[in-house]
Amino acid sequence: MASRGKWSSQLGFILAAAGSAIGIGNIWRFPYMTGKYGGAVFLFVYLAAVVLLGLPVLIAEIAIGRATGKNPVGAFAELRPKSQWKLVGYMGVLAGMMILSYYSLISGWTLGYFFKTLAGSLKGATTSATPLIFDTFVRNFWLQAFLLAAFIFITGYIVSKGIAGGIEKACKVLMPVLVVIMLILLGRALTLPGAGKGLEFYLRPDFSKLSPRMIIDAMGQAFFSLSLGMGAMITYGSYLKKDESIPAGAAWVAALDTVTAVMAGFIIFPALAAFGMNPAGGHPLVFHILPVIFDQMPLGSIFGMLFFLLLGVAALASTVSLLEVVVAYCIDELKWSRGRSVLAAGSLSFLIGIPSVLSFGGVKFFQKLPLLNISFFEMMDFVWSTLALSVGALFICIFAGYVWKSAAALKEIGRGAEKFRHGWLWTISVKYLCPALILLTLFTLAIR
Ligand code: PHE
Repeated sequence: MASRGKWSSQLGFILAAAGSAIGIGNIWRFPYMTGKYGGAVFLFVYLAAVVLLGLPVLIAEIAIGRATGKNPVGAFAELRPKSQWKLVGYMGVLAGMMILSYYSLISGWTLGYFFKTLAGSLKGATTSATPLIFDTFVRNFWLQAFLLAAFIFITGYIVSKGIAGGIEKACKVLMPVLVVIMLILLGRALTLPGAGKGLEFYLRPDFSKLSPRMIIDAMGQAFFSLSLGMGAMITYGSYLKKDESIPAGAAWVAALDTVTAVMAGFIIFPALAAFGMNPAGGHPLVFHILPVIFDQMPLGSIFGMLFFLLLGVAALASTVSLLEVVVAYCIDELKWSRGRSVLAAGSLSFLIGIPSVLSFGGVKFFQKLPLLNISFFEMMDFVWSTLALSVGALFICIFAGYVWKSAAALKEIGRGAEKFRHGWLWTISVKYLCPALILLTLFTLAIR
């Protein structure tokens, strides 16, 4: 298989998979969801979902990928030839393309904010000014379409370079730098006067705020943040060498991803409280508050520029994995060249992204879809990032537990992980716990 590669080491895999996992899901989506659902309750349900559902599904996906060395469609087809399980793979490829379309748009915002900071147009931004700046920015159709195209183009460029060469190298250098900047931001946010109230919001749960919709969003966020349910981790697992430990790799990826998201909350909520801003501000939340924090810091514009640039890079490592799923499918199953696959998938994603661009201004229809009363963008985000990934994860559990069978899966998981003693726990999770929890959540949503 000429155009397939391998990660150069276990560390290379962990960083690339963590690169896929860590992205605007952690720094943009997690804080705004937490804010929307009243703070600490969401955080706790999310953390429970990461441990109970995320980790077992992550291990299952990597194992399916490594056992077959294939893209999601090919992997299911190889483990259960002539069955309909391929469909789960197809759904993953489709989800990859769909998520890429609006994920790249939000990622484009980070580039936009990088240039805004560079040009000094966020200097002195107050809490009342940043929402206006944001609105004007997202309403500019041509600028948004350009940023979307630019982001998909850069993603396509990296994916066209192949596995270890492109993705791995970029992640190795840039991810640690992002974490350092976040630590500096954390220091600033926590020492703002009035930050304490934000910490309370973030850490003291009010369980009366629990709701089925909140639980499904927390579960979906756990899958989304760990890049699960659509085969991204099957694809990345397919490039993992046989003598490396799947459970250890999965644990590292889950830990790094979760720490980053939780840390983003520790930056955003104290700062929101300090400036008296509403934590339930919806999807523009971090773009409203971050410029205000930077403005309160010495060398703020330099930190601001670096932050938005690196957030863009973190997003890039995620878009790369989304596109890689579609491309790996085109290469393996359709026998296309890497270049052609990138061109086709990238262009299609851009076109699908246009209605999302229009959701932020211009066309009323896309701003508020008839009957649903939400924007096209919000609809896409819920359908693909939350529902499709949850359903995908459910099927992956059933497949690993009952179809491929947990004993066969455990054999793959045990390779390179001779010291792993928790196979029985994993089996209970994928056979009973995860399917039951996911089904229960989807069911409660459906009957409401
Ligand atoms: N995990 C990424 C994030 O949190 C998003 C993503 C989802 C990437 C699904 C790949 C697959 O930003």
